[in-house]
Amino acid sequence: MTKDLAGLMRTHNCGELTEKDVGSTVSLCGWVNKVRDLGGLYFIDVRDKFGLTQLNFEEFKGDFDFKQLSLESVIRATGKVSKRPEAAQNKNMGTGLIEIAVTEISILSKAQIPPFLPNAANQTVTEDLKLKYRYLEIRNQKLQEIIAKRSQVGRATREVLYDLGFIEVDTPILYKTTPEGARDYIVPSRVHPGKVYALPQSPQTLKQLLMIGGTDKYFQLCRCFRDEDLRADRQPEFTQVDIETSFSSSLYMKNLAEKLIKGWFPVSSDFVLEAITFEQAMNDYGSDKPDVRTKSLKQYRVNELFATSDFGPFKTVGNGLIKAMFLKDSDGVLTRKEIDGLIEIVKPYQGKAVYWFKAEGETLSGGMSKFITPEIFQNLKTKESGNGVWFLFADADENVTHNSADAVRRFLITKFPFNKKEYAFLWVYDFPLLEFDDKSNRFVARHHPFTRPLDEDMPLFLSGDKEQLKKCRAEAYDVVCNGYEIGGGSMRIFNQDIQSLMFKALGMTEEETLHQFGFFIEALKYGTPPHGGIAFGFDRLLMLIAKTDNIRDVIAFPKTTSATDLMASAPSGPNPAQLRELHFNWNKE
Ligand code: AMO
Repeated sequence: MTKDLAGLMRTHNCGELTEKDVGSTVSLCGWVNKVRDLGGLYFIDVRDKFGLTQLNFEEFKGDFDFKQLSLESVIRATGKVSKRPEAAQNKNMGTGLIEIAVTEISILSKAQIPPFLPNAANQTVTEDLKLKYRYLEIRNQKLQEIIAKRSQVGRATREVLYDLGFIEVDTPILYKTTPEGARDYIVPSRVHPGKVYALPQSPQTLKQLLMIGGTDKYFQLCRCFRDEDLRADRQPEFTQVDIETSFSSSLYMKNLAEKLIKGWFPVSSDFVLEAITFEQAMNDYGSDKPDVRTKSLKQYRVNELFATSDFGPFKTVGNGLIKAMFLKDSDGVLTRKEIDGLIEIVKPYQGKAVYWFKAEGETLSGGMSKFITPEIFQNLKTKESGNGVWFLFADADENVTHNSADAVRRFLITKFPFNKKEYAFLWVYDFPLLEFDDKSNRFVARHHPFTRPLDEDMPLFLSGDKEQLKKCRAEAYDVVCNGYEIGGGSMRIFNQDIQSLMFKALGMTEEETLHQFGFFIEALKYGTPPHGGIAFGFDRLLMLIAKTDNIRDVIAFPKTTSATDLMASAPSGPNPAQLRELHFNWNKE
């Protein structure tokens, strides 16, 4: 333990005493983890976030009612550190060789029977109950370790960035819309009837304004707010390591990402991010954030191979996409029932089926094998050979094919061991600038509206033509780890006319643009350095570092997937006086 200041109620924590301390008199404070009654001789395990220490009452002369002592009560005990008898030693525990011969004990806070015990194994406790009593849940040793890790990773991040000349700048939370593709959380103004602030989805415009303001290298561990559908890797409020640099380039951002990753993950000192274009990532893995801990299960575009095939389902694909993916028997074998069950994995992505056949030497069987002509098979064999199962994915909408192939690939990677690396990173670049949304019949920015078109695609952008715009790529990049997008960023538009054109391409009228972003477009007029940046999802990083698959584990007080805080019951109904003050006409429907 680091040397502490005087004034605490304890001399040591519950995890630090060892044989070296035998003979010294100590005071410990903590929670009652376990009480053992060996026929009137009591042993208590006292616990804090640092560990457990055994209290022995053999020599205790005081008056204390052990029967009153409930689990999770907070106590203070004083006594001498002594060596445990050989038979009672626990070599797997830091404090397992010693115990305290207690001379004084007091209950600082008596606990009622808690809804669950934070450190007991084999309890069936629902997630909702754990979240309702989150302060009890985080007494759990593992969660305390994660909370501490989060703080250390924040500190290491700040140190790397300070060393490179970055400074941390706070930006406002009560602000105006900062579009990142989600809905805003809004806060009504009392002083300005009928007006609202928006909580930042990210400090995007603010960090760019800092560059215009001459700040040069900015970072912030900042809170972002997004009202969007939640998943295991998303929270409505989350933290970013947000970065912006003037006079920078994509190369600088990649170098910076490598430097940060070296501080966060156990990678070698000569670690380099493997770079892959968006297009190649989609072709090879059906995803812009592929899990490349294994390079197996690569996918192949096979439309031409089946151009004259009689296989009914492929005939309706038209201009869509057919992909093939091979699972070698040596990597894993699915039962027939498991193969049939794959349909459930693709259904959420509108996939209608997973087609397949088995190859053993030259013998084909099962699934669609009778439609696999020798020519088709010979061609597939030039891509991958050996015994195994070929899976085929097909749909008139190529995104359905990509998503289905990706979902099955992720399922197989999780199910079978492969020869997986602990951590595998990718730098994915050259993303499309815009995406056409058929529902609203307009373009949306793939990253955000401040992203610069790639220089060589600028003519496509300037043409304003729908088909050309669809082909235009952006100077945007993502950092991917084990199939998660842990960061994303871009080089920014720093020319006022291009920025106005971008809003126009997004279907915004001049009036809308002025209303939402007039201040920003004006700022671009007064001398804007070329600049760019990146933001890492701090919580997602922590998920990967702590090796957990739910973002809630790395947040002290997380929300449920319906954006509720079960502990405090937030959101909650406002009181009518508050609403009146806010000039709010509340309609619960
Ligand atoms: P982007 O929207 O890609 O970029 O976000 C950056 C990173 O933030 C994380 N992230 C989330 N984490 C938890 N819960 C969420 N709801 C959530 N949404 C995003 C992801 C993601 O990679 N302003 C730009 C960055 C830039 O251009 O510099 C931005 O916010 O890990």
